[in-house]
Amino acid sequence: MRKPIIIGNWKMNTTSEQGVALAQSICRNAQTNQNVDIVLCPPFTSIPLIHTVIQNTPIKLGAQNLNENPNGAYTGEISAPMIAEFAEYVIVGHSERRSIYGETNEQVTAKVNAAYNANLTPIVCIGEDAEEREQGRAERFVKQQLRNSIGNPQNLRNKQTIIAYEPVWAIGTGNAATIEQIKYMTEAIREEVARMDTAETAAQTRIIYGGSTNPNNIHQIAQSKPIDGVLVGSASLNNNDFIAMIQSLTQHTENPLHQ
Ligand code: PGA
Repeated sequence: MRKPIIIGNWKMNTTSEQGVALAQSICRNAQTNQNVDIVLCPPFTSIPLIHTVIQNTPIKLGAQNLNENPNGAYTGEISAPMIAEFAEYVIVGHSERRSIYGETNEQVTAKVNAAYNANLTPIVCIGEDAEEREQGRAERFVKQQLRNSIGNPQNLRNKQTIIAYEPVWAIGTGNAATIEQIKYMTEAIREEVARMDTAETAAQTRIIYGGSTNPNNIHQIAQSKPIDGVLVGSASLNNNDFIAMIQSLTQHTENPLHQ
């Protein structure tokens, strides 16, 4: 049984003071249950403080990026063992990293491996841009990007990798993919995971959606069984919105009609 997950990607927002206040509020107000994982991904500077805030709560921490090397002369970078002191998850290959900082699939693979070596759960982001979709190449592109980002397919086995389908055209635009588009691509990705490794691995890999999710469109996503959760950007910075989204996912897992 794959557990639904909601991940807040705060991006380059919040000072540590603001971040602590947001995390405290989420911890106080989020209705949690054993069936939904909640992960906050604040900026690096807030991670140690928020680590203290979330202690004794079911909420977990993640980082937004990592360097693929464990240590060394890489000025300004942060490695997987440093993150693992405080957090359990790390976002890898977000489209903003790929497009603004030119991260290649090879680098993403190296980062995924570095995350595994430090026992971090990587949240691997893949997704087509508007042009790929308009030209009918979205599915092919996403499958290829998945293969090229994961590296050795055996990595998927027992590592609890999370795959985030985030179409570039839906991120930060207010223009979320339709539920049909999300379901279709989630299923296509799961088929590809089965082809890359085994049907068993595919059945246990969590595949989530990200791109302009909010309290209004979360219901449909939460009701759709093939989709295992959401990666939330701007709505995760709004305390009330994020709490409402957690509640939505939680309610759907409590509802026996979840399908
Ligand atoms: P958004 O961002 O929810 O603001 O579209 C999603 C993401 O970048 O992960």
